[in-house]
Amino acid sequence: MKGIVLAGGTGSRLFPLTKITNKHLLPIYDKPMIYYPIQTLVDAGIQDLLIVTGGRNSGDFLRLLANGKGFGLKHINYTYQEGEGGIADALALAEHFADGDKICVILGDNIIQGSIAKAVSDFEKQGPGAKILLKQVHDAERFGVAEIVGDRIVGIEEKPKKPKSDYAVTGIYMYDETVFSKTRTLVPSSRGELEITDVNNAYIREGTMTFNYLDGWWTDAGTFESLLRAANLVHDTAQKGEPVLAAHGEDGE
Ligand code: DAU
Repeated sequence: MKGIVLAGGTGSRLFPLTKITNKHLLPIYDKPMIYYPIQTLVDAGIQDLLIVTGGRNSGDFLRLLANGKGFGLKHINYTYQEGEGGIADALALAEHFADGDKICVILGDNIIQGSIAKAVSDFEKQGPGAKILLKQVHDAERFGVAEIVGDRIVGIEEKPKKPKSDYAVTGIYMYDETVFSKTRTLVPSSRGELEITDVNNAYIREGTMTFNYLDGWWTDAGTFESLLRAANLVHDTAQKGEPVLAAHGEDGE
């Protein structure tokens, strides 16, 4: 399986922190944010990676990560998203890289404590379709929210005012090669973006979406509150002597 880290967008919710740098280069305790999603994929055995980034600071990713030696990689692929057309717009840029293989996509601001290795291995055995990872939260209205009936997921609503469950759809998605034909049918949402939730709902309508529950803590880091929360979670986990990152990528200049 190939891995894709989405690190585009303007990070406008973190202004002025993101005025002169990319959100995913900001620190989460003792490491740049982007290290965490990269390590999540590498820990799950995914070695072939694409980073999608954008904006004026995209060159800094190359300087920071180089070829990924610090993560035990031989090479990292990079591509550039013009503007901020949404998560599905950034994903669409990965079609050439995916080249018909299954992919595991992670949002560049999603930080987790545990491992996704079992979900990745389950998806490798799964036939056509997709898999998402769900996490129970207290503030579901901030996320894509899954509606679950029995053991089936019947729909996802993006940031609903009245969530139908307290299960957030985390920013870790696994797709077969049909994801790219699905992204081509999308139309921009009311916030002017191509929504990953619309892609996921297309798989749900097709009856090919599966899900796992994510173990350990999970947070995004795209607001001041969640950026601070992410740093505190990483710090507190490290203080207990538990690893959040297996390795670290001292690689660039
Ligand atoms: O964190 C999980 C949530 O992420 C999901 O529950 C939601 O369903 C999903 O829509 C997304 O919600 P956010 O509104 O929090 O996404 P945000 O716009 O903050 O973007 C998250 C990451 O996606 C960002 O760190 C980089 C990448 N991205 C985003 C946009 C808008 C891109 O690469 N390009 C983009 O144009």
